[in-house]
This record gives sequence, C-alpha cells and structure tokens, in this order.
Amino acid sequence: MTAIAQEQAFDPADPLHVPDPHPLFHRMREQAPVYRQVAPNSGRVFWFLTRYADVQRALLDPGIGRQLDRLPEELAAPHRRWENDALAMVRRNVFNLDPPDHTRLRRLITPAFGARAVAELERSVGRVVGDLADGMAATAAAGGEPDVIEALALPLPILVVADLFGFPAEDRALFRRWSDEMVAGRNGLETRRSGMKFVAYITRKIAERRDRPGGDLLSQLAEAEAAGGITRYELISSVFQLLFAGDETTVNLIGIGVLELLRHPGQLARLRAHPELIGPAVEEVLRYNGPVGHSRPLFALDDVDFGDAVVPRGDIIVPVLLAAGRDPAVFPRPDLFDIARSPNRHLGFGHGIHFCLGAALARVQARAAIGTLVRRFPDMNLAADPATLEWTDDLFLRGPRRLPLRLLG
Ligand code: HEM
Repeated sequence: MTAIAQEQAFDPADPLHVPDPHPLFHRMREQAPVYRQVAPNSGRVFWFLTRYADVQRALLDPGIGRQLDRLPEELAAPHRRWENDALAMVRRNVFNLDPPDHTRLRRLITPAFGARAVAELERSVGRVVGDLADGMAATAAAGGEPDVIEALALPLPILVVADLFGFPAEDRALFRRWSDEMVAGRNGLETRRSGMKFVAYITRKIAERRDRPGGDLLSQLAEAEAAGGITRYELISSVFQLLFAGDETTVNLIGIGVLELLRHPGQLARLRAHPELIGPAVEEVLRYNGPVGHSRPLFALDDVDFGDAVVPRGDIIVPVLLAAGRDPAVFPRPDLFDIARSPNRHLGFGHGIHFCLGAALARVQARAAIGTLVRRFPDMNLAADPATLEWTDDLFLRGPRRLPLRLLG
C-alpha cells in the first residue's frame, strides 16, 4: 500500500484544500487513484476517483447510481441517517434520480434549455451584463474597488434562471434569501422553514400558471403535471434544483474565470488581442479550475472493479471532476493554463446522462461576463493578494467569495 492510501483520516473534501486542491489530486492520482476514505463521524466509506478514465466510467456505469432506495435496506440504512432529512422534499429531481424517473423528468425540462431558448436568453444576458459593468465603472470612477462577485457574478445568473420560469424581477431577492438560509441553515428546523416558504411560493405560481399559461418553463411543467407526467413533489423539487443549480455554479465560474485571467497576465493579454478566444478560454477555466469539484456522490449498486481497487456494493463513489481535468494521460502539460487549448474534453459539466442541462446557458453567461470585463476594463487588476482571497468551504461548489478589482490603470 502507498503512503497516501494509509492516511485514513485524510479527507480530500476538507475545506482546507478548496482553494488549491491540485497538488493533492496529483498525489492521489499517482499514489492512490481510487482513494478510500472512512468518514470519521459516520463511518461511511467514500472512494475518491482522480483519473479521467475512472471518473468518466463511473458517470456512465449503470451499476453506479444516485438513489438510495436501489440498495437493499441493510446497505441503505447507514447512509439514510446521514442524508439531510430536511432537504428530502427537494430531492426528487434529475440530479438525484436514476432512470427511468431521471429520463422522464429530464425529457420534460430539456426543451427549455434548447438552442432557441438559449439564443433568446442571450440577448437579455448581454443587456444585464452591460448594465452591471456600468455599475462597476461608476464605483471605480468614485474611487472604489468594485467586487466582481457582488457587482456582476452574483446578480446575473439568478436573474437569468428566474427569467426561464417567468418569475418577476422583484421576487429574485427572495430566492437568494431562501437559498442562503437553506444551505446555511444551522439546524433542520431552519432549513425546513425556508424550504416551506419556497414551496408556498411555487404552489402559488403553479396555480397562477394553470389559470393563465404562458410560454415559460413553469407553465410547461404545470401542464405536464395536469397530464400526469410529473408529480407535484417532483415539480417543486425540479424548480428548486434548477433555480439553485444554475446560480452558485455560474457565480463561481465567472469568479474563478476572472481570477485565473488576472493570475495569468500573458493569457489575459492574449484574450484581449483575440476576443474570439473567449469560448475556448471559458472551457479552459472549467478544465483548469472548474467551480464544481466533484459530481454528486454516487452509490455502488454492485461491486465495482476499478483495476486498482474493487469498490464494494453500498459504498459511496466520488468522481472528482476537477482532478480529471488535470490528468496528464488526457491533457498534455495539465498544469498549464492555455486559453486556446484544443482538444479540451474536460468534465467540468459532468458526463453521461447527467451532463449539465444548463451548460449552454452557463457558457453564454460566463462568456458575456468575462468577455465584457476584459473588453471594457483593459487596465483591470486584482485589488487583493490572490493568496489571501477567501474561498467557499465546499469542494462541490467552489469559488472565491470576493474579488475586488482596480479598474483604472
Ligand atoms: C448537472 C456543472 C450551470 C442545471 C450538472 C453537473 C455538473 C454541472 C458537473 C453534473 C453533476 C453530476 O453528475 O452529479 C455546472 C457548472 C455550471 C452549471 C460548472 C456553471 C458554470 C448550470 C445552469 C443550469 C444547470 C445555469 C440551469 C439553469 C443543471 C441540471 C443538472 C446539472 C438540471 C442535472 C442534470 C441531470 O442530472 O440530468 N451541472 N452547471 N447547471 N446542471 Fe449544471
């Protein structure tokens, strides 16, 4: 056994590693690519995958799933105690389901993310980004240091996703508050209380759409519910998941994208000289330092053989998307940030049947936000030492919490 494999208490998802997990992932990939960790509190066994081929395979293997009820009760029971009960009501959505329920729900929501829908949203994204950048310029003109996260990355995605459902602008502050409360809820009661407010809101909106259907996604889902294609529980859970899956991920992609360009002035200059590279540049951010560190933890429904180790049925498998992006077997010079890298088959949006449904929408927003900053603020600079930036404490949803800029030379 290798040195790293013996560190039983060592946790790759420890907040300590969130800002820069790459040296650790390299060590894991080299020494223990299928790394077994016993969680100290629960005793549950997690297996972290850091090789590209293993991550890809885990996300394609029907013998690895997301639903606890697919395990026999004696294997499911130890996990059930640790699943957050208060969040159970928002769990019946594509992200947490396997086929056939996954297939049925994904088919219902997919049209809302098609090329036409995204092209329509693209216009409003351009407008919103322009307005937010004006705000940043005004802050800088008044002698301030606008924060990319607060001034641009945070307001944009929730506006865009709410638009998809036809929710009014003034309600957006509510989603933000409920989502913050639910995620940060110090106990089950707090989480449940904000969850109930959300459920009441959606229930009201569904009734409105029944009376007066529109062209938005909620109207389509309400219609599907009436036709028996989706339950009320699944509908609410899906709206919740879409509102929040599309929010923090995008905030973090914009934040990390701007940060990496500022950390790599040569690449920033290259993008400024070749604005058409914004597409590949965003893909490179997703590979090099993507905002979603790993997929949803999965359950081994059978014993799964990864060559180096056999994961026993009932254990948890964590495909580390971020580690796959730096696998030298797939990406030459993986630690080099190259905005024109090609090919670039990163797994930053996942892989297989759960591949990110909002990928096109996320790309539109990230390209608009980062591209606009680069174009409008040629002298932008970080107004903080990158080494002291505070990050989120979660490898799953990672990104800098603040990113203050000096916009003037
Ligand atoms: C799934 C990343 C933005 C909706 C996923 C997955 C990843 C991902 C890695 C797969 C997770 C897994 O296998 O467990 C990202 C990133 C984003 C982003 C990096 C932005 C930078 C969005 C947006 C939306 C969205 C804007 C929608 C508004 C979804 C949905 C799923 C998903 C619905 C679940 C799909 C399924 O399970 O079939 N995303 N996402 N995402 N994402 Fe995104």
